[in-house]
Amino acid sequence: MSLSNIDTPAPRIMMCPPDHYGIEYEINAWMSTLRQADNALAVAQWGQLRDVLEHCGAEVLLQPPVKGLPDLVFTANAALIYHDRAVLSRFRHPQRQGEQLHDRQWLEEQGFRVEELPDGMHFEGAGDALFCGDTLLSGYRMRSDAAAMQEVGRRLNHRVIPLELADPYYYHLDTCLCPLAPGRAIYFPGAFDDYGRRVLQDVVKELIEVGEDEARSFACNAVVVGKHVVTNVGCPRLHQDLRSAGFTPHETPLSEFVKSGGSAKCLTLRLDGEEAASWKYAMV
Ligand code: ARG
Repeated sequence: MSLSNIDTPAPRIMMCPPDHYGIEYEINAWMSTLRQADNALAVAQWGQLRDVLEHCGAEVLLQPPVKGLPDLVFTANAALIYHDRAVLSRFRHPQRQGEQLHDRQWLEEQGFRVEELPDGMHFEGAGDALFCGDTLLSGYRMRSDAAAMQEVGRRLNHRVIPLELADPYYYHLDTCLCPLAPGRAIYFPGAFDDYGRRVLQDVVKELIEVGEDEARSFACNAVVVGKHVVTNVGCPRLHQDLRSAGFTPHETPLSEFVKSGGSAKCLTLRLDGEEAASWKYAMV
């Protein structure tokens, strides 16, 4: 049974089945080819995540998996979606650059107008660019370039708040920050420097702090579907805080994806705008 209101269209989420998923290279601090993912378990965990999201009222659309592209499962990195526009990622690491062609093709098939950033500007989509209300919070340095974020903000005509990521374990912004609603977000303070923390506290009125142990369990890598928030297991304090704030948290095991430096949010891309993004409700 779905929990969505039957009068409103279901939130649409892009996912890609993990048929060809594995740890085939090392491009972040979590990945070691000596610590392989169990593919059968990954398939089961991915299926459970999909079930939870559907239970929360989402409609899941599937991108076909491609052999040789093990990280295609992390659809958050395909693009940044804005109404019917998709700003395609330009991956920093050559190991993931082969995904761009497939992402472009799939997004075009879904009716999006796909745009690219200039050559040489690295940008990793909704992994590093997160709307909180009208503001685009953007992580840079590890994967995306600050200049790419300014270019995205200019094109979409939204204010960009650049946040430097300095800890290699929190290399994408969505590993340490998750907008919940306009003016409200979850974050792990330790992933930012003093300046970044101050800026965040200034821009986002209500911040729910995650401790280091739960941040390591990817507590901040949450999928928000209305009042539902879905994370990996191992985040009980965050779940308590979410309940107190009026949300309904759900947990689902994602150990095999953590081995690649990813979790719930990384495995999804909202195609219709997240609840935290005001542009969802604005006309263009
Ligand atoms: N192995 C992938 C990489 O390093 C994980 C991507 C996780 N995605 C995310 N949005 N945080 O690129």
